[in-house]
Amino acid sequence: MRLLLIGDIVGKPGRQIVVRCVRGLVEREGIDLVVANAENCAGGSGLTPANYQELVAAGVDCITLGDHIFRRREIATVLDSQPNIVKPANFPPQAPGREWAVVRARNGVDVAVFSLLGRVFMRPVDCPWAAADRVLGEIPAEVKVILLDFHAEATSDKQLMGRYLDAKVSAVLGTHTHVPTADECILPGGTAFQCDVGMTGPTDSILGRRTDRVMESTLTFYPTPFEVAGGDVRLMGTTVDAGPTTGRATASLRLSIDEQAAAALSAAQLSKRPVG
Ligand SMILES: [Fe+2]
Ligand SMILES: [Fe+2]
Repeated sequence: MRLLLIGDIVGKPGRQIVVRCVRGLVEREGIDLVVANAENCAGGSGLTPANYQELVAAGVDCITLGDHIFRRREIATVLDSQPNIVKPANFPPQAPGREWAVVRARNGVDVAVFSLLGRVFMRPVDCPWAAADRVLGEIPAEVKVILLDFHAEATSDKQLMGRYLDAKVSAVLGTHTHVPTADECILPGGTAFQCDVGMTGPTDSILGRRTDRVMESTLTFYPTPFEVAGGDVRLMGTTVDAGPTTGRATASLRLSIDEQAAAALSAAQLSKRPVG
């Protein structure tokens, strides 16, 4: 079976390309489960209940977040009530939301999804390694396919988590840096690994924000609003093929869908709609 993790969706341009092409992508690539990191959906920071609904309606099956999880407070009710969205599992236990989710894929297989925050150049959080052990102890033993979104800054931390969970989960895929890395691989124990799957949003930018704004603030120290940029929007993510009964990964592929490719995927879907 095939899983897809979509990298950090940034603002309206990011949401729009997801809405435009996820269904077409699912069909073209034979994807059974779509997971998306949605921490930057709402104007570049956070996720609103309306954004959540929009992504689910577009074909996203499960949502992970990150350090920007609570930038929009109103997401707490969604985190507490919906079965297909998770908070980082090394957040305080008192924080709204569940630490892991089991979501049924299109082929009928149950897949567990969880996320963790790294601790290098990130806010102080509980130990991600201990949290990983706790979550894996809680996920039902019959659920074999497990995806971790490791939301972290340091590539070394990400590599360590990949090795730590090798043979214990199907995939350790990174998010947060908004820059895809070219290191996708299958580790010796059968876990798919990649430091970062990239960003879904405007790539003519600094991590999704207007270059002129970030440049001005950086050069002058004078704060400016970091508005979401607009140019060269792409959907980036990585697919992982895993055995539904073994949970072991067999293949992994980086995706980058530009606006032209997204339009073609959308047109292919529209042409299949029944007329009348
Ligand atoms: Fe992000
Ligand atoms: Fe982040």
